[in-house]
This record gives sequence, C-alpha cells and structure tokens, in this order.
Amino acid sequence: MIQVEDPTDQAMVAKIHEAGQEHLFDDWDQLDSATRHSLLEDLHRIDLGFIQQLIRDHLDASASEAPIAAPTPPDWIPLSDPRHSAARQRGLEALQRGEVAVMMVAGGVGTRLGHPGPKGSFPILPISGGTLFQIFAESLLRLQKKVGRPIHWIIMTSPTNHSETVQYFKQHDYHGLTPSEVTIVPQEQLPVLDARRQKILRSGPGQVMFSPDGHGGSIRLLQKKSAELRQRGIQHIYTHQVDNPLARMADPELVGLHIEQDSRFTSKAVAKTDPDEKVGVFCNVGDHLRVIEYSELGKEDRHLTDADGSLSFRAGNIATHVIELDFIAPESTTGPLQLPFHVARKAVRHWHGGDWHESTSPNSVRFETFIFDVLPMANRGLIVEADREQEFAPVKNGEGSDSPATSRAALQRIWASWLMQCGIPLELDASLHPLRPIEISPLVASDAAELKQALEKIEIPTEGPILLR
Ligand code: UTP
Repeated sequence: MIQVEDPTDQAMVAKIHEAGQEHLFDDWDQLDSATRHSLLEDLHRIDLGFIQQLIRDHLDASASEAPIAAPTPPDWIPLSDPRHSAARQRGLEALQRGEVAVMMVAGGVGTRLGHPGPKGSFPILPISGGTLFQIFAESLLRLQKKVGRPIHWIIMTSPTNHSETVQYFKQHDYHGLTPSEVTIVPQEQLPVLDARRQKILRSGPGQVMFSPDGHGGSIRLLQKKSAELRQRGIQHIYTHQVDNPLARMADPELVGLHIEQDSRFTSKAVAKTDPDEKVGVFCNVGDHLRVIEYSELGKEDRHLTDADGSLSFRAGNIATHVIELDFIAPESTTGPLQLPFHVARKAVRHWHGGDWHESTSPNSVRFETFIFDVLPMANRGLIVEADREQEFAPVKNGEGSDSPATSRAALQRIWASWLMQCGIPLELDASLHPLRPIEISPLVASDAAELKQALEKIEIPTEGPILLR
C-alpha cells in the first residue's frame, strides 16, 4: 500500500484497497506531486459504499431489473384540443408574475456528436453559424420582452464542460441576457467502471474517469437550490434539453396547461408513427404515469394500434417538462424524492497497465438517473401533445438521423413556411425544403404572425440566402 503524509489521506488509501480498487495507485511512483494531490482529491470525492451498493443492486449476477407490469397507453391533451390556446394567457400571466424558471440540461458528454466543447456551442444555425446556446438565449430574450420581466435560466453543466460553458457565455455577453438571471451550475458525477471487472476506470495516469450522473442530476440540483428559487418567487420549473433547437423556452401554453390542470409534472410528447423509433414513451403503469424506454416495451405493445390505425403507445418523450418545485423539493419533513439509478454501457478509451486501451464495443458501465423517473411519484401528471415538425429535431449523431443536417432541415422548413404565410414566394423541393438557405433569429420572430409584423420594417432580398437578424 502506498504511504502518504496526511492521516486522512492514508485512511482513504486503506479504504480504496479494502474496496479492491488499489489499481488506482498503479502509476503512483511516476506521478508528479500535483497529479498525486489531485488524484487524492478525486478519491476523497468518491463515496465507495455507495458505489458498492450500486454494483450490488445493478451489476451482480443476482441483480435484475424488475419487468414493467402491464403498461397501458395514457391519456393526453391532443394537438386539436382547444385547451391548448386557451391556456396560453394563463401561462403568460405566470411568467409575468415571475413564477417560472427555465432549466436547460446540458451536462451530457455528447459522445455521438463528437463536437469538441459543450454541445450547446455547436454551430447549428445554417447561415450565420450561430450556436444552440444562441438560439435558446435569444428565444428567452424575446419571451422576456413579451412578458416584461426577466425569466430565470438555470443551465446544468457537468464538471467536464462547466468552465467552457461559463467561458462561452462570458465571451458572448450572455447573448444579451442579464448575467444575474443566468445560473450556470454543474451536476454531480460518478466514477465509470470497467464492464467486466467492475473496477473504477482511469482516463490517464493518476486520473479517475468520472461521468455525469444522468439528466436526473437536474432534480438533485433543483432540490439543492430550492430555497434560493423559492426566494425568487419561482414555483414551476420548465426543463428542456440542449440538443433540440426546436425546444420552446417556457412555452406559455404548456405552463398554462400545467397550472390549469393542477399538475405536478407535465410533459410534451410527439406522436410516434414508427413503432421502432428509439424514443421513450409515456404509459400508465398501475395508477401512475411513467416513461418507458423503447427497449422496455414488448414488440406486441410497440406495434399495437388504435381503431384509427395510429400506434396505441405513441406518446414519444421529447424531454420538455414543467415540474412543480414543491413536488420535487417539498418543504415538509418527508425529505426530497430519490431517483432510481440506471446502467449505461458505452465504449471508452481508458488507461490500464501502463497503456491505453480502446474498444469499439461497450467496455464501461456508468450509473445515471433520469429526470422523468420522478413522474411515477407525482399524484397528478399530464401529457400534452406537441407537433413533431415544429418542436422536435434533436442533434444527437454526427450524421444520418437526428444529426445537424436533419435538425437544420427542420429549422429551414419552419422558417420557409413562416415566410410563405407572410406572402413571400419560395421554391421548395419535394420534402418541402426551401431551395434558398434561410435563417430567422428568434430576436426577429418566433412565429409567422410575429414575422409578418417584423417584415413591415425588413426587406427580403429577391434571391440568395435569407438571413433575418
Ligand atoms: P443524451 O442522452 O443524448 O446524452 O442526453 P449526451 O451525453 O448528450 O450524448 P451521448 O449519448 O453521449 O451521445 C440528453 C440530454 O440530457 C443531457 C444532455 O446534455 C442532453 O441535453 N444530459 C445527459 C445531462 O445534462 N446530464 C447527463 O448526465 C446526461
């Protein structure tokens, strides 16, 4: 066992040995003093008892996920329901009273996209090269002007991308938002384990490999910050993901429906038409709503259809929710809600035995919680249908489906349709994609009606790209 000066450090070293994780000190003799110091700091941050518990519960031979008992399709408020537009005013009033904060979850590692830097700094805008962060910031700015007051924005990062995210917003002057109304805060992280031997992996000599603890980390963050949020007068948290540029910021309709229906957890869902599309679906299990993963729904249920031919389990989760602060962080003594952990297996490059090891198949295990796992704990939940074309075009992969190309195409189809509704003639291809590149900043308009107003002062060029900022 290695010898260190500080008795607290020495006790921790002993615990690491007891837990069978002594390989973490393999490179000790070659490490400089700064790396030794940061390794010891990292190791102090690991709750070994908790990790061992997670291994017992999820990875040991006897561990098995309980099958989901008889899911049934849930009710939802369909797109055609007049309650949608009726609720808008109610949502706007809640925003005007300052009761709503927006939380963007942006702590993911973005392995599939492979963009260097935080995913939000990806240049998604087709002409200007503006970023995902920019779209959201400008949308929020526009909404703030509409309601006449700031809307607090919480951006959840991870320890890996936190300082780069803070740096980004500083460099871009928060895209016009008031810095004190933007809270950028990292989620927690857990060590990544070797999938076969359940040892903690290393990301280099003397470096523990950590990974963020899933988007459910946002619930723990909100619980931690609940007193501060209450002090600001916030009651409802509107959450969205960083990788869907069509995600609406604090959509007044959704907020209004959430309040009118006295819901604790309200979600947008888009209608799945392909039974094998890999999105989680909302369903009822017993008396409660919940999201089940694509893989958890049996083939028969996936293909089940209603009388009109639409999929019965079609309410696809697009990760936009309104959550009641009092529900996830009750002020009573019952304590905050606890989320279950799930296992994610990914291929990672890691350091072992004095060398790098690559893998193309999943060789690591990470533990994550999911934000929607609080839904079954809500005594009142609500699902609201959203239009996929208008609200869901995530950037997940570098190429192919759910990629920058498909997401940009979705944005352009929307902007083209606004322009055409304003009487601007445009040529479209067979998939309704405009032949001229188009980009409309949220600062100019967030729908066709707003664009019509803006066009009173803006001239559209007769040919070439259309960039409205
Ligand atoms: P994904 O599940 O798509 O994960 O996250 P990811 O890390 O971004 O990408 P891959 O799987 O490695 O390619 C969905 C959303 O949840 C956030 C992400 O930032 C994204 O907005 N997220 C995910 C977190 O905030 N924290 C996490 O620990 C995981």
